[in-house]
Amino acid sequence: MSRDRKPIGVFDSGIGGLTVVKRLFNTLPNEDIIYFGDTARVPYGSKSNETVIEYAIQNTRLLLEYNVKAVVVACNTVSAVAIPVLKEKFDIPVIDMIGPGSNYAIKESLSNNIGVIGTRATINNKAYSKALLNINSELKVTERACPLFVPLAEEGLIEHPATYAIAEDYLRDFISNDIDALILGCTHYPILAPVIQKVVGNKVKLIDSGVAAAGEIKKILIEAGVLSKSSSPGKHTFLVSDIPVQFKFIAELFFGHDIGEVKKVEIN
Ligand code: DGL
Repeated sequence: MSRDRKPIGVFDSGIGGLTVVKRLFNTLPNEDIIYFGDTARVPYGSKSNETVIEYAIQNTRLLLEYNVKAVVVACNTVSAVAIPVLKEKFDIPVIDMIGPGSNYAIKESLSNNIGVIGTRATINNKAYSKALLNINSELKVTERACPLFVPLAEEGLIEHPATYAIAEDYLRDFISNDIDALILGCTHYPILAPVIQKVVGNKVKLIDSGVAAAGEIKKILIEAGVLSKSSSPGKHTFLVSDIPVQFKFIAELFFGHDIGEVKKVEIN
């Protein structure tokens, strides 16, 4: 099979990476996509760097069994800790979330005062603050871990009172310190964007790294000469490592259409 006809592999710990896939559907409608949600081991954000790196290697190997031409790490936690290892180990393009998200935030912020929310691992590793300050050392960056957002999104509690209460507690400091851009530094968070936006107010632009990553993925496929030349709609395949039912339910709620069979696969 010629390389351009191979699918793009995408993985996350669970449903979060669907926020990136939704952007890919628009940017690259003719590409086949194989998505893997590691639902047996979610959340990644409270695990050690060593464990996350091990999972990332296993997930990439799994996608390579499906003959993918590139791997999109649709998970900020893995992007924060495992990208150098994946790039060294695997001989295909590996695309992360942190670089595209940081560039997009800097473009959108007029005040140079940027907030970042993410999992504990992403925030503790200072992945975004390092990337942002590397681009512009004059920036003011305020970071906060929001670990409960992942289970709330996985449960589909999108505009639930519990989500509001937790968001108000997590985001209180951002309201008083005049940020004008808030990086949603976890791919699960765009699912909760309506609540996050209400809590921080309309003057703050929410930065969804998936938006920026989709453009970056297209650019990398073009550079590698593997962009699909097909003019028919791409096939989308969804794999999970545990019970498919909840994943299918939330994914269809999020996409607004049937996604077909979600297949459970073994990961080790
Ligand atoms: N959606 C992932 C991220 O972007 C992982 C969340 C988790 O499993 O804790 O960080």
